[in-house]
Amino acid sequence: MDLFEHQAKELFAEYGVPVPTGKVAHTPEEARAIAADLFAAGSRKVVVKAQVKTGGRGKAGGVKLADTADEAQSLAEQILGMDIKGHTVHKVLVEAGSAIAEEYYFSFLLDRANRTFLSICSAEGGMDIEEVAATDPAAVAKVLIAPIAGVDRAKAREIAQAGNLPEKALDGAAELIERLWAVFTDEDATLVEVNPLILTADGEVWALDGKVTLDENAAFRQPEHADLADEKTTDPLEARAKDKDLNYVKLDGSVGIIGNGAGLVMSTLDVVAYAGERHGGQKPANFLDIGGGASAEVMANGLEIVLSDPSVKSVFVNVFGGITACDAVANGIVSAYRLLADRGETVDRPLVVRLDGNNAELGRQILDDASLPGVRRVDTMDEAAEKAAELAAAGA
Ligand SMILES: Nc1ncnc2c1ncn2[C@@H]1O[C@H](COP(=O)(O)OP(=O)(O)O)[C@@H](O)[C@H]1O
Ligand SMILES: [Mg+2]
Repeated sequence: MDLFEHQAKELFAEYGVPVPTGKVAHTPEEARAIAADLFAAGSRKVVVKAQVKTGGRGKAGGVKLADTADEAQSLAEQILGMDIKGHTVHKVLVEAGSAIAEEYYFSFLLDRANRTFLSICSAEGGMDIEEVAATDPAAVAKVLIAPIAGVDRAKAREIAQAGNLPEKALDGAAELIERLWAVFTDEDATLVEVNPLILTADGEVWALDGKVTLDENAAFRQPEHADLADEKTTDPLEARAKDKDLNYVKLDGSVGIIGNGAGLVMSTLDVVAYAGERHGGQKPANFLDIGGGASAEVMANGLEIVLSDPSVKSVFVNVFGGITACDAVANGIVSAYRLLADRGETVDRPLVVRLDGNNAELGRQILDDASLPGVRRVDTMDEAAEKAAELAAAGA
């Protein structure tokens, strides 16, 4: 999960990383009030910054300086509603303007290729770091971090030095980097990036931007991270699926997909998209992996979620029996129909079921005997995908 800049800075502040004082505004009037407070508290300038989860906001005109509260209000008016690389700006951060002497780059990240942590540091920070990395890679230091040893003050200083930060910035940068390491490890982040890390006119080192990615696999031990999730960008169906512990991702097609095992579901998406080309461009409507040991209840929940999507015109249930054999899955489908009927929901769109693998024959027999309305059994994955796409096209 990526955080907004203002959330990243709130985390930084909790760990003692110096960041400008600021607050989030959803309207120009709010922006004006925050700016007025900042000027009253002694700020010479305030900055109005678009809060979207993408970089390059400065270049896109989403970061602007104001000299008065009036100006902050009109800048907020311009920036709110703006589109930055496909992200609509719903809120701005209004913060104290810093007197920047120099801009540097710093980040901690998980280096999957080398199975370790990595820090990247450069004295050439600011908005053009990608270009610096491409044209002058020697100016961008990459320092590996041994996970057990971590980053103490000395290591932090070594990183800042490797990045060619000037002597006058080293102490401040080392202290800040050590604290960012605490953010990175204690919050289970996979990325903590500060660009720019600045040296102020007073010789202090501050974080002026913040990009943080939290590891969702660690959510179980970071309960407070749930509050950081962005409801506006989460699909309501995905939120409901999550409540039911289902691995569901909404897509924009018309063929609902239910399968057991992430790999099987991924390839089901491919065959359905391929078959769909012969049926007016039908596409998968979702990814849903009900997992290995799918019970009737899980099947019912899955069907309910998939059918709640009005763009779904047919459903393809693709199961390869393994530890959970096909007869159990077939019984699951039969009871899922009953469960849904009890909940007052009927399956009103055609279901194409392919059962293969462990106990496939028995599973198919169970389905045939149940003769559920709208259920068609097809034995191969390609033929089933074809049928599901055809039915979706007919139902559209
Ligand atoms: N609080 C601030 N005070 C002064 N200048 C700022 C402030 N925040 C950002 N800037 C300037 O705006 C530039 C872009 O802002 P930044 O937060 O890095 O956005 P992005 O990386 O998305 O372009 C920074 O490199 C810095 O020069
Ligand atoms: Mg930046």
